[in-house]
Amino acid sequence: MGKFTYFLVFTLFLSSFVASSLGKKQGDVLSKFYKAKQKNSAFRKSYFKAADVENVELDKVILPQEGSKAKDWINKLPGQPPVKFQQYGGYVTVNQSAGRALYYYFTEAENSESLPLLLWLNGGPGCSSMAYGAMEELGPFRVNSDGKTLHRNSYAWNRAANVLFLESPAGVGFSYTNTSSDLNTTGDSRTANDNVVFLLNWLERFPEYKNRDFYISGESYAGHYVPQLAHEILKHNKQANKTLINLKGIIIGNAVINDDTDIIGMYEYFASHALISDETYHDIQNSCFVQNYNESKCNSAIAISDNNINHLDIYNIYFPLCKNGNLTKYPKIPPPLQIDPCSTDYIYAYLNRQDVQDALHANVTNIKYEWESCSNSLFYNWKDSPVTIVPLLRESLANGVRVWIFSGDTDGRVPVTSSKRSIQAMNLTVDQPWRSWLNGGEVGGYVETYKGGLAFATVRGAGHEVPSYQPARALSLISHFLSGTLPPGDH
Ligand SMILES: *[C@@H]1O[C@H](CO)[C@@H](O)[C@H](O)[C@H]1NC(C)=O
Ligand SMILES: *[C@@H]1O[C@H](CO)[C@@H](O)[C@H](O)[C@H]1NC(C)=O
Ligand SMILES: *[C@@H]1O[C@H](CO)[C@@H](O)[C@H](O)[C@H]1NC(C)=O
Ligand SMILES: *[C@@H]1O[C@H](CO)[C@@H](O)[C@H](O)[C@H]1NC(C)=O
Ligand SMILES: *[C@@H]1O[C@H](CO)[C@@H](O)[C@H](O)[C@H]1NC(C)=O
Ligand SMILES: *[C@@H]1O[C@H](CO)[C@@H](O)[C@H](O)[C@H]1NC(C)=O
Ligand SMILES: *[C@@H]1O[C@H](CO)[C@@H](O)[C@H](O)[C@H]1NC(C)=O
Ligand SMILES: *[C@@H]1O[C@H](CO)[C@@H](O)[C@H](O)[C@H]1NC(C)=O
Repeated sequence: MGKFTYFLVFTLFLSSFVASSLGKKQGDVLSKFYKAKQKNSAFRKSYFKAADVENVELDKVILPQEGSKAKDWINKLPGQPPVKFQQYGGYVTVNQSAGRALYYYFTEAENSESLPLLLWLNGGPGCSSMAYGAMEELGPFRVNSDGKTLHRNSYAWNRAANVLFLESPAGVGFSYTNTSSDLNTTGDSRTANDNVVFLLNWLERFPEYKNRDFYISGESYAGHYVPQLAHEILKHNKQANKTLINLKGIIIGNAVINDDTDIIGMYEYFASHALISDETYHDIQNSCFVQNYNESKCNSAIAISDNNINHLDIYNIYFPLCKNGNLTKYPKIPPPLQIDPCSTDYIYAYLNRQDVQDALHANVTNIKYEWESCSNSLFYNWKDSPVTIVPLLRESLANGVRVWIFSGDTDGRVPVTSSKRSIQAMNLTVDQPWRSWLNGGEVGGYVETYKGGLAFATVRGAGHEVPSYQPARALSLISHFLSGTLPPGDH
């Protein structure tokens, strides 16, 4: 398949999102972002360029951290049930002259010493890892419908690792910059650079994790952030001629990998899941590519597709929409294994409370705007976003870094068909062929591995935010990833 024309991509996402609530904005932002990306020729779309600064002087970027860890210790979050693990939250300065500081929330495992360190990043660009990762997906707590109390997520990933949530880049969630023009000059490179500086300083603050096995995970647009951060870490280790950060593996879910295959894979998914007709799909295939572009035909096919996916949650096509996100006086009994479709509304209320921000050590500089799950201002001026991150996945593999790609198979935004096509574009040879993997005696999903070390795993019945919808399957998958074993199943 050739390249989509610019025109297509920017009509493509205009009307495809149903604003049912504050929820699901991560995918919403992604669609608007694709559009902005195609419209704005200032974007650097070519091969990822490492950083603002080519040769980082470690002694200049690593600042003293004495006493910070103790100050960051979180006694208890408002409305929190009792737990046996430790939590920390606070800021790490990543650029002193600009006054940029990134907020982190760290949930240790109960037996923290024997388990690896796992970083989680949400995408957008511009979406908060507190909003999604920590409070809705894999964190230890979920917010009740009263917007002020929490309940336990029994499938939290801090059962398998010490989990570090990072709000990135500056301008997202609680992370901030004192140089407001930074918000107009951010992109993939700045994000990767600030993130590696964050990690180097964070490890100074938590030195017991310095030699720990380290893994990076994320979803959606973090399909860019994760391999880019891996690239920065490999570069820094090489420059320093020692292991500054003990990177062992990366894992990305429903991830933006390769624009062309991601986009046509999305329409393939719509058609194969009976959301659009085969005819509409063929019209898109036959009129929206550079080699056969027909503006009027392409436009009308896209308009039909957009119409067809109105009034459903494209991030989880069989999931109900949020009908009433109003807070309730008393918490509703949470569904045992699934997220409430209105949970983003509860999280928004919770994280904007003063007592919650105080407990988290967040917003200590009185940021001028309120906490939001996704920051719109950032991505409209995004500076660089390569069309593919395949070269960086290859680089990680070549350096012995484990690479897994997973996909919730009911997501329509960056669906399983997109991920399959993106992996095909890597020209790998199958090692262990497609088979089911089991969890709790039933199929958790399917898995295939490739020569060179890449694994692809689907998660059955999960949408874009995999751990929200299939928490037990997601925990099983991440545990196997961390131990470097494939989940069991029928060969
Ligand atoms: C700090 O950020 C500014 C942009 O705000 C950038 O020009 C400068 O190079 C950065 N400094 C370092 C050491 O990364
Ligand atoms: C940003 O400015 C505030 C107010 O002057 C200051 O307290 C804070 O330390 C600054 N942040 C950074 C990262 O320099
Ligand atoms: C950022 O860009 C927007 C336009 O996209 C502009 O309105 C705003 O003034 C800019 N802010 C800064 C601090 O440069
Ligand atoms: C890198 O470190 C190794 C051993 O730690 C040493 O043998 C080698 O000479 C170093 N290389 C450079 C370029 O400093
Ligand atoms: C584009 O498609 C329309 C309607 O399907 C058709 O009438 C027209 O001839 C096509 N244009 C080109 C240049 O092929
Ligand atoms: C939600 O709250 C608003 C404001 O209090 C109210 O106007 C609206 O009717 C409520 N929605 C529902 C569905 O109860
Ligand atoms: C930070 O605190 C100020 C004042 O308490 C509040 O108005 C603002 O909404 C908060 N912003 C964020 C990002 O939490
Ligand atoms: C995969 O193979 C195709 C056809 O040989 C080639 O055009 C493409 O560049 C290759 N892709 C990669 C990532 O090597």
